[in-house]
Amino acid sequence: MKAAEIREKFLSFFESKGHTRVRASSLVPGNDPTLLFVNSGMVQFKDVFLGTDKRAYTRATTAQKSLRAGGKHNDLENVGYTARHHTFFEMLGNFSFGDYFKRDALKFAWELLTEVYKLPKDKLWATVYAEDDEAYDIWHKEIGLPADRIVRIGDNKGKRYASDNFWQMADTGPCGPCSEIFYDHGPEVAGGPPGSPEADGDRYIEIWNNVFMQFDMQPDGSLIPLPKPCVDTGMGLERLAAVLQHVHSNYEIDLFQALIKAAARETGCADLENNSLKVIADHIRATAFLVADGVIPSNEGRGYVQRRIVRRAIRHGYKLGCRKPFFHKLVPDLVAQMGEAYPEIAEQQQRIMDTLAAEEARFFETLEHGMSILDGALAGGVKTLDGEVAFKLHDTYGFPLDLTADVGRERGFTVDEAGFNAAMARQQEASRAAGKFKMDRALDYSGAATTFHGYDKLVIEGAKITALYVGGTEVAEMKAGDSGVVVLDNTPFYAESGGQVGDVGVLTNAGAEFAVQDTQKIQSTVFGHHGTLTKGALRKGDALTATVNGAVRAATMRNHSVTHIMHKALREVLGSHVQQKGSLVDADKTRFDFAHNAPMTDAQMREVEAKVNAEIIANSSTLARVVPMEDAQKLGAMMLFGEKYGDEVRVLDIGTSRELCGGTHVERTGDIGFFKIVSEGGVAAGVRRVEAITGMNAVNWVQRMDAAVGEVAAALKAQPTELVARVAQVQDQIRLLEKELAAAKSKLAAAQGSDLAGSAVDIKGIKVLAARLEGADAKTLRETMDQLKAKLKTAAIVLAAVEGGKVQLAAGATADVMGRIKAGDLVNFVAQQVGGKGGGKPDMAMAGGTDAAALPKALESVRSFVEERA
Ligand code: ALA
Repeated sequence: MKAAEIREKFLSFFESKGHTRVRASSLVPGNDPTLLFVNSGMVQFKDVFLGTDKRAYTRATTAQKSLRAGGKHNDLENVGYTARHHTFFEMLGNFSFGDYFKRDALKFAWELLTEVYKLPKDKLWATVYAEDDEAYDIWHKEIGLPADRIVRIGDNKGKRYASDNFWQMADTGPCGPCSEIFYDHGPEVAGGPPGSPEADGDRYIEIWNNVFMQFDMQPDGSLIPLPKPCVDTGMGLERLAAVLQHVHSNYEIDLFQALIKAAARETGCADLENNSLKVIADHIRATAFLVADGVIPSNEGRGYVQRRIVRRAIRHGYKLGCRKPFFHKLVPDLVAQMGEAYPEIAEQQQRIMDTLAAEEARFFETLEHGMSILDGALAGGVKTLDGEVAFKLHDTYGFPLDLTADVGRERGFTVDEAGFNAAMARQQEASRAAGKFKMDRALDYSGAATTFHGYDKLVIEGAKITALYVGGTEVAEMKAGDSGVVVLDNTPFYAESGGQVGDVGVLTNAGAEFAVQDTQKIQSTVFGHHGTLTKGALRKGDALTATVNGAVRAATMRNHSVTHIMHKALREVLGSHVQQKGSLVDADKTRFDFAHNAPMTDAQMREVEAKVNAEIIANSSTLARVVPMEDAQKLGAMMLFGEKYGDEVRVLDIGTSRELCGGTHVERTGDIGFFKIVSEGGVAAGVRRVEAITGMNAVNWVQRMDAAVGEVAAALKAQPTELVARVAQVQDQIRLLEKELAAAKSKLAAAQGSDLAGSAVDIKGIKVLAARLEGADAKTLRETMDQLKAKLKTAAIVLAAVEGGKVQLAAGATADVMGRIKAGDLVNFVAQQVGGKGGGKPDMAMAGGTDAAALPKALESVRSFVEERA
């Protein structure tokens, strides 16, 4: 049974048992910055188990793409060396949200395995949590599994509830006892039953885990019952396929064999057992699915995990002899295997290939050099690679540490990781020191922190100056005309952060006025007001009235709030792989960069605009709350990957969007007024940029566009609504006129041509003519050539035309001359003198050139060319 059929049978079996088939979620968890990647089927339902989210169904089934690379679950290093480790795998699961519990879960599992997949009953074993008599009894008394094939496993990992049969999503959160189903691969394979000392062998393989979610584990280790008991199960598709296809290794199943063959084709490796092919086959799955979900190779976080996997695959290709990009060429093979079940990879095939090809090109540039450095460092049978060398490979040649370790595993050396870490720490310290030095030199400040009041106030009185700087140095007094920085103990000015620019405005007291042109943090809680003292003097300790420019701030807020709404709309219209990659919000616009493969179509832009404007019209009030991080996660707030959030975070509800954000926002969505996208383009591989405007900016833009349309309509003497048709008509007219013009030109040139016949000179009986034909195109040159040949009878002719600095040449020789003077040679002779080259048939040849200035001399030389040959 093929993997695709196994997957489909699982899902339709549970559909027949009243489950809703739910699409796999993105590999990037939508609401959980603590989790690097989705690593099991239950992640997308976490909040449903906790009771903070509700779905329209109480039974669900999924085939969930999962990744265990980086973070707590990391199998990257083992891929290629074992029969069952993968970075990317598919977990088949069924879920009950307070609906059925242990009895039905186990009975469903038994029915599917023995009646649908038809596994022999005597090959199946089960484990239960030691205290779970209920599960034991269901297996034994109701399903009829013999007692000697049911194993009770207790807290076997040293702590209460730390057990192979007590499943926890994480240190806290949903958890419960579980029952695992094992398949016995037979006595010819080494290994013992679960719970025995030989359990790690390959004979008894766990295929399905049924978790009875009952508790919410608290940080102190105590258990609080969930609102309702639930079921979460997970079965690795690849393992099940190995069992059903009667093979021992997951890499022998159909799906992997197809990818291994593709890897063999691209690397030219004939040995299908080669471990490097397995690595490449595993890694193309992980990396292609990651790109599809918006993760592109980079130097941090998820992007770095992605980079490590791609580079590890490339290194294995290199080992097989590849010296240029090959890895991305496996994508179509992957799509052929998995594109039907996961349309996201089929839809984004080209983008995935481009992204991987770019990363390959980058790494191939340094790979060879890095490998030779590695070889040099290992000369003479070195068994431990110097940490400094490993660091240099990492830092200069882009070798992730695990890639170097992977080479070590093959060649029998280990890496001095302590030395590597020390080198890394030293470099980080050096750059931190450099950063601090710059910051200290920029503004050395040790006073009180600034309290920000700008969420609800634009003016505050009695703000005290805690420091003044001119030219980067602290001063006791600032005089009129000085430009510098004013630090206050309290301020309504927003300092640039989270993509929102700093406020502008004015600081005043009875005698002085300081125009604030920008506000920047000089430390994380110290705000510097940058600007110029236009009047009076300021001293440390002086009290000021701080007034933010309300119009600029209001315009900025409109653009910031709309960014949240637009982000959500983009995800709805383009897909959940859309993730913010950068943003800049000021009074003019919002500029938003996000992961997406293709240019947005006009229809998609219209749809985003419509959704955003609908939220604006709904005029709902904005809600800002400061809550503990955990609560924000429960609320499902959109968190930006790569951002560092504190324990307490600010959750912003704007329209139907919910994001963590420290920025300033409108009170009601209606304050935004009107939203319009004004540009869309690409900024890097897989990253698009949208610029959009709001409020009066958007109104002005529409008016300008409208005026432009009006002017065009007037010029074309049409109504704006008729413009499209009118323009098409004008274009038709232009095409017609162009045709007529060409015909007229050619007529004119032809007339010139017959006049030219008279200026031919006779050289040893051959009529020689070399002339310019103004305004002629290639066709006219050819036609005129034919006429002249007919007229002159025995002739050698060169005609030239110049158009836009380019020279066009035609040479011709009549049949009786051709033996001595070949048109091809003649045209080449002339073309070379005008910076070109050419050739052709002996009777007629064309060529071009670029040096029009050299043309007169070149034409003159035709006579001597003929003289020499006549
Ligand atoms: N969530 C369970 C697991 O990952 C099914 O094993």
